[in-house]
Amino acid sequence: MNIAVFGTGYVGLVTGACLANLGHNVHCIDIDERKIKQLQKGIIPFFEPGLADLVARNVSRGRLLFTVDAQTAITFAEAIFNCVGTPSREDGSADLRHVFAVAQIVARTARGYKLLINKSTVPPGTAQQCHSLIQETNPSSEVEVVSNPEFLAEGKAVHDFTHPDKIVFGAKTLKAYSLLRRIYTGRARTYIPVLETDWETAEMIKYANNSFLATKISFVNELANICERVGADVKMVTQAMGLDYRINPRFLNPGIGYGGSCFPKDVRALIHAAREKGYEAQLLQEVDLLNERQKNYLAHKIKARFGQTLQGHRFVVWGLAFKPQTSDIRESPALALVQGLLNHGADVTVYDPVAHVDVREVFGEKVRYASSLSDSVIDCSAILLATEWDEFRNVNFAELGKTMKHKMVFDGRNIYEPEMVKEDGFEYVGVGRK
Ligand SMILES: NC(=O)c1ccc[n+]([C@@H]2O[C@H](COP(=O)([O-])OP(=O)(O)OC[C@H]3O[C@@H](n4cnc5c(N)ncnc54)[C@H](O)[C@@H]3O)[C@@H](O)[C@H]2O)c1
Repeated sequence: MNIAVFGTGYVGLVTGACLANLGHNVHCIDIDERKIKQLQKGIIPFFEPGLADLVARNVSRGRLLFTVDAQTAITFAEAIFNCVGTPSREDGSADLRHVFAVAQIVARTARGYKLLINKSTVPPGTAQQCHSLIQETNPSSEVEVVSNPEFLAEGKAVHDFTHPDKIVFGAKTLKAYSLLRRIYTGRARTYIPVLETDWETAEMIKYANNSFLATKISFVNELANICERVGADVKMVTQAMGLDYRINPRFLNPGIGYGGSCFPKDVRALIHAAREKGYEAQLLQEVDLLNERQKNYLAHKIKARFGQTLQGHRFVVWGLAFKPQTSDIRESPALALVQGLLNHGADVTVYDPVAHVDVREVFGEKVRYASSLSDSVIDCSAILLATEWDEFRNVNFAELGKTMKHKMVFDGRNIYEPEMVKEDGFEYVGVGRK
């Protein structure tokens, strides 16, 4: 099938490459000319495991191309994926201007029956709004809007796209469901549940998914904070909880809060969408507040240990991306930590396997960028682990400690065993550890 994909960010590029890999002919469109030029040269603008090979393979087979020419792509395609960004506005609502811009250009350009597939995360009611916009722009348009939310996680996006837990189609006609099934044939060869529903339910499923995961994280962070005060060890508590089949062990790791381009913005967008309909989503408001508070967790611990002013101390922050296996630093708790340290007069060294380029755009020369683990700890008063890259899991603390001012680890993701770190002569502070 001929397909157009609007937006070449994490979702659009993965969608385009994976659909091409399933045998479709795909045009990927972006308004960011620099990004398209990079992609045309084979440069992937962000780090995502497996994506570069997939893109290269499908470009060389002639099934995948990158363009800024939206009109040609729309004319060529039977199905048009809308994968543009939906960032937060000041008030927490989802900014849908890019989604509507795509709907409008599709309405103006498309001739005959085509699907406009909203894959971006959008509040319930958006498919209806896109449909109305298309009809207003071009009353004779035969474009049918559908909702097909994406559940991939950065860091394993290609795997998640090809092996999803579920596929959700929100549509109004049998023709649309049938076309959607054709697009995904191949991906659904192994058993993957396909849920066919209406627009609003499909849109809501995505928010429900992300809000629940965010709630699980804030809940477990709350538990960690209580454990710390009552003398319990949260790691053991959550391990036991996870053995209850009704709970499930995943997303039960306390830390310094969730970040990224999805959980924070989607929780806030759902709160806002509910408020617009007269409902105060109090639980979700607390989830968001708790998460913001948890981002200050390590800064508080450091001040408790070193004093209110941190002048004269250098700290190294390990891991800057919002999670391992990605270069994405949007809303990363690590950035809040770095900023907190700078605000209190500390000198900061940072180290991340892939995110330095993006972090430089935020902090410029205010921090030192280390070239390796051993380089990162020189003259430091403590190591602050913010993102649990594999590289940080098995480190030789005894060796690293030789160039440090104080031997201390603040483990913001609870990846170390306190006793083992202490054996290497380090003080250890985890999140909710005994
Ligand atoms: N990143 C994730 O892990 C993830 C997972 C599931 C769902 N989502 C959702 O998918 C959507 C996209 O997320 P992302 O992380 O890929 O965003 P992103 O910011 O990485 O990429 C969005 C891209 O859309 C482009 N764009 C904006 N307006 C355009 C237009 N009119 N025409 C063509 N291109 C346009 C931008 O230039 C940008 O390259 C969001 O709604 C997000 O919530 C993201």
